[in-house]
Amino acid sequence: MSKRIGIYGLGYVGSVSAACLANDGHRVIGVDPQAAKVDLIKAGKPPVIEEGLAELIAEGVSNGRLRATQDPAEAVAETDISIVCVGTPSRANGSLDLSHVQAVCEQIGAALRNHPGYHVVVIRSTILPGTMREVVRPTLERASGKIAGVGFGLSNNPEFLRESTAVRDFYTPPKTVIGAIDEKSGQAVASLYEKLDAPLIVTDIEVAEMVKYTDNAWHALKVAFANEIGNICKQLGVDSHAVMDIFCKDTKLNLSPYYMKPGFAFGGSCLPKDVRALTYRARSLDVAVPVLDSILPSNANQVERALQIIVQKNRRSIGFLGFSFKAGTDDLRESPLVELIERLLGKGYHLKLFDRSVNLARLVGANREYILRTIPHISNIMTESMEEVIETSDLVVIGNNAPEFHDVPRRLRPGQALVDMVRIPGFATAGESYDGINW
Ligand SMILES: NC(=O)c1ccc[n+]([C@@H]2O[C@H](COP(=O)([O-])OP(=O)(O)OC[C@H]3O[C@@H](n4cnc5c(N)ncnc54)[C@H](O)[C@@H]3O)[C@@H](O)[C@H]2O)c1
Repeated sequence: MSKRIGIYGLGYVGSVSAACLANDGHRVIGVDPQAAKVDLIKAGKPPVIEEGLAELIAEGVSNGRLRATQDPAEAVAETDISIVCVGTPSRANGSLDLSHVQAVCEQIGAALRNHPGYHVVVIRSTILPGTMREVVRPTLERASGKIAGVGFGLSNNPEFLRESTAVRDFYTPPKTVIGAIDEKSGQAVASLYEKLDAPLIVTDIEVAEMVKYTDNAWHALKVAFANEIGNICKQLGVDSHAVMDIFCKDTKLNLSPYYMKPGFAFGGSCLPKDVRALTYRARSLDVAVPVLDSILPSNANQVERALQIIVQKNRRSIGFLGFSFKAGTDDLRESPLVELIERLLGKGYHLKLFDRSVNLARLVGANREYILRTIPHISNIMTESMEEVIETSDLVVIGNNAPEFHDVPRRLRPGQALVDMVRIPGFATAGESYDGINW
């Protein structure tokens, strides 16, 4: 169904969204304080260079579905949805400059004061989590004298287009993400994208805000990572493109959800050793690899973070359920849980450990030898009973995702605390007795 839409900000995101939505049959008014951009649209011309945009704007203006104004009040009065696409640049110190978002919310809010119908305000500009709650909503409510969810709808709908392919990306986005304060607002935004062949995800406003930053941080990290691998390759006389082509063919472990769940540090006999060897080799070749160099310090920081969370719980007896670096292995080499356990032992905590895969009685060969010779202080506090660990501890730490740990939260007695490193299924909300390492 055709909607009446105001688009605020006629830069890359705004002009592409305006042209594409008009092309989809909606009636669109573009708003920008810059007379030059508004005049270009009025003349049927694109204010930015993007493949396919000139044709869409010329068509939209000539069929009357797309027009432009410098007056936000005029646009609000004649529309049911306002989509904010103003810039959110960096300040000199790197912080986010929200002055345009704030100003446009004041303008839309003031115009909503006398708007008779239900109007939805959608923020498509990239904004940090909490901005909708702390800036957008209060500004709109103050300026309009109305309450969000009652007098008007509110949604965050991040944009994923890339410059140079923006029109194509509008029609084939990787996903559509809609954070909304209520179902009505979410549905109003979803209806704009119903023809797109892309996953549509409706979620919390702050998750939507964070997804955009997570995406872009990941894209930036991918580029920096590939460049550093390439720089090492060149110095070694290895074809970097052959390496990365093969790397990208692995959609099981490399380009996949694997390793992408927030949780505890990595460990084991390969990842730390191999990252160390590669960065040492890069150093010896005089190749700077700041991204690769930051991996092990970041991992060590995760152990530190777990330590702080546990120490802040103020319990002296601590039980670990799982302490090999992942469920189902008896390999304790470079287990970050062993590192954490050693740090706690050093601070004088009373510890008991259980891990079905690291049962000393059943262990043979190298791993038994490793425990008895290298970490004998750990073997002394290992038990063969999960129940004993739960019963004798004031704080239980779930260290890996073994299925037998999944109902532990339900088995705790009042006053007992739990720190979860793996997000066992069904428990996600931090509280007095349950805490996740990063959720
Ligand atoms: N450019 C991209 O590829 C891209 C992709 C995804 C998301 N984003 C995000 O989208 C937002 C917009 O990016 P952009 O590249 O289109 O910005 P841009 O700088 O090209 O355009 C922003 C426009 O907003 C206008 N503006 C400022 N105050 C206004 C107001 N009060 N009312 C109406 N218009 C106003 C400016 O005059 C300008 O024309 C940013 O938050 C950006 O991070 C950009």
